[in-house]
Amino acid sequence: MQYAHITGWGMSAPESVMTNDDLSKLVETNDQWIRERTGIQQRHIAGPDQFPSTLAVEAAVKALTIANLRPTDLDLIICSTSSPEYIFPATACLIQDQLGATKAGAFDLSAACSGFIYAVNMGAQAIRSGSIKNALIIGTETLSRFVDWKDRSTCILFGDGAGAFVLQASDEPGGVLSAVMHSDGSGGNLLTLEGGGSHHPATETTVHDGKHYIKMDGNEVFRFATRVMASATQEVLDCAGLKMDDIRWIVPHQANIRIIQAAARGLKLPMDRFIVNLQNYGNTSTASIPIAMVEAIEKGQIQPGDKLVMVGFGAGLTWGALAAQWTGPLPSKGHVHPEQYRTFARLRSLVRRALRFIEGLLYRREL
Ligand code: UT7
Repeated sequence: MQYAHITGWGMSAPESVMTNDDLSKLVETNDQWIRERTGIQQRHIAGPDQFPSTLAVEAAVKALTIANLRPTDLDLIICSTSSPEYIFPATACLIQDQLGATKAGAFDLSAACSGFIYAVNMGAQAIRSGSIKNALIIGTETLSRFVDWKDRSTCILFGDGAGAFVLQASDEPGGVLSAVMHSDGSGGNLLTLEGGGSHHPATETTVHDGKHYIKMDGNEVFRFATRVMASATQEVLDCAGLKMDDIRWIVPHQANIRIIQAAARGLKLPMDRFIVNLQNYGNTSTASIPIAMVEAIEKGQIQPGDKLVMVGFGAGLTWGALAAQWTGPLPSKGHVHPEQYRTFARLRSLVRRALRFIEGLLYRREL
């Protein structure tokens, strides 16, 4: 029997910070309203040269370093994102190329803010089935590119960032213990980004109508979120045969402090059992849970042996939860330096492009 352990973790956030006061210069809002209604104090915003893949690769290299794995040891890369760089190719393939993960399959997963939970579950299932040994799971977003900076009901919420986990197979019990995934497409209209897909391909009209911006019915999403956070947490514990007392930490999607407080009330738990860092990052969508996890591990809050639940909700509508036992890196020999592989990866990518070009010329001559 194989278990899927979380053996590496890393995060990355753009250095540029936008405070609530900065936002009050763009829209009719103020620091007090944003803090009281959301808990957010600042968010990180990607610069012109930062993309979901660049943030993801930074987080991934840190995760691989902790797991002591080379990019070439990876069998699978799953990138959860709602702000992919292109409709295709998948952002996961850009990450695969930048890392030099030459043996990995790579695909994107779209389940909005619940995506990281879905992705970890998919990676863990692949490991449990015995078909792979090492997976890289990434949540990465630059949703700031799709925010309407004139819409105060959404622009105050979102921030950019990435988080990554390495999952590895082991005979030792632990790691991912159970997961639940849910969806309700009847609420799809509550949180949308309509433009640029095949229903509304980009045209002057779609841009004129602002279909390239995030649109949200905040109150409805809020109501849905407060309902599902507690129920999904309880459900995933039941699946793992665990009781609430067995769990040291709940790591919720970092959308709004009032949603987390409502979940705490629903579960009859004190707030100090919840990991919260949304004050510093805002809502980074699928990246919010791994970013919160990484910060909590680095602060020493999450310790080896701790059992915890990650729980999220988002557009779709989607929601889900995952119970895990935190173990840390597996024992391994020697030290690998995944960072050094990035230079090789760049070179390799250039050489492969050049070879493909030459092959193309030769092929044309043969025709
Ligand atoms: O990852 C999932 C993504 N989405 C979410 O998690 C969003 C869930 N929803 C929420 O977090 C909240 O619904 C919001 C933060 C979006 C809104 O908070 P709210 O407490 O539900 O405010 P509201 O929309 O009910 O608006 C209350 C008032 C309104 O004014 P009136 O009509 O009472 O005069 C709004 O116009 O607050 C006003 N308002 C603002 N005022 C200052 C709305 N946005 C702002 C703002 N600054 N940014």
